[in-house]
Amino acid sequence: MSTEQKVAVVTGASQGIGAGILQAFRDRNYRVVATSRSIKPASDTDIVTVQGDVGVADTAERVFRTALDRFGRVDTLVNNAGIFMAKPFTLYSPNDYVIYMSTNVTGFFHMTQRALEFMGKQGRGHVVTITTSLVDQPMSSVPAVLASLSKGALSAATKALAIEYAKTGVRINAVSPGIIKTPMHPPEAHQALAALHPMGRMGEVSDVVDAVLYLDGAKFVTGETLHVDGGQAAGHHMVQSA
Ligand SMILES: NC(=O)c1ccc[n+]([C@@H]2O[C@H](COP(=O)([O-])OP(=O)(O)OC[C@H]3O[C@@H](n4cnc5c(N)ncnc54)[C@H](OP(=O)(O)O)[C@@H]3O)[C@@H](O)[C@H]2O)c1
Repeated sequence: MSTEQKVAVVTGASQGIGAGILQAFRDRNYRVVATSRSIKPASDTDIVTVQGDVGVADTAERVFRTALDRFGRVDTLVNNAGIFMAKPFTLYSPNDYVIYMSTNVTGFFHMTQRALEFMGKQGRGHVVTITTSLVDQPMSSVPAVLASLSKGALSAATKALAIEYAKTGVRINAVSPGIIKTPMHPPEAHQALAALHPMGRMGEVSDVVDAVLYLDGAKFVTGETLHVDGGQAAGHHMVQSA
């Protein structure tokens, strides 16, 4: 088994931002282990897919065992799998809470723990996690406390892990998107969602991909949350009513 090519693990890689990140790493000649619940086998022999719920510990075990058995190393983990449901706080059901926390927080915990066990011994590696700009700038028109509760935890853990691992050669960062054109948002909502950004447009998957790739190559950057949000986290802006 050749272990010269770098290897990335990408969660939530079946569509949207995760699919874009998967393609970007392949374009840079990484081998990739791609995971989600419904992901299909790939014809590209440098991509291995593992189906599973990210909130279940066994999924992370299988993903990292596959990465090491097939490719012999792991250079980057992208914690991208996540869900989003905007609702007034009191309308969230107990089940909404469980699904949010399982996918966004428990998934991060299991994947990152397996990654850091290995990267710590390896003496190099990078973990980058996709959060949301709502953590820093909640919007009255998009009430989503469970997004803040779950993704806010990831922002805090990114800093804490960056410090815990700073001396080991392993870096931990995050990307905080605004609203990105993915299957998460129906096309008929795009115009209204564009207006929620000071720059007046939604983000593209490529905007988030560029940030992930920047952080992956930025050897003196750790504990950083890079906002890719058309100015949302920078401050308030007036939304013109029609
Ligand atoms: N799009 C946005 O506006 C936006 C804004 C801020 C942050 N984000 C964050 O960016 C990330 C990607 O978003 P996206 O817009 O690309 O979402 P998306 O199009 O809905 O894709 C979500 C991905 O996560 C996977 N996934 C969902 N639940 C999972 C689970 N329990 N176990 C394993 N995989 C699971 C899905 O695959 P399966 O269904 O096959 O499992 C899919 O691959 C998420 O963390 C999201 O919170 C997105």
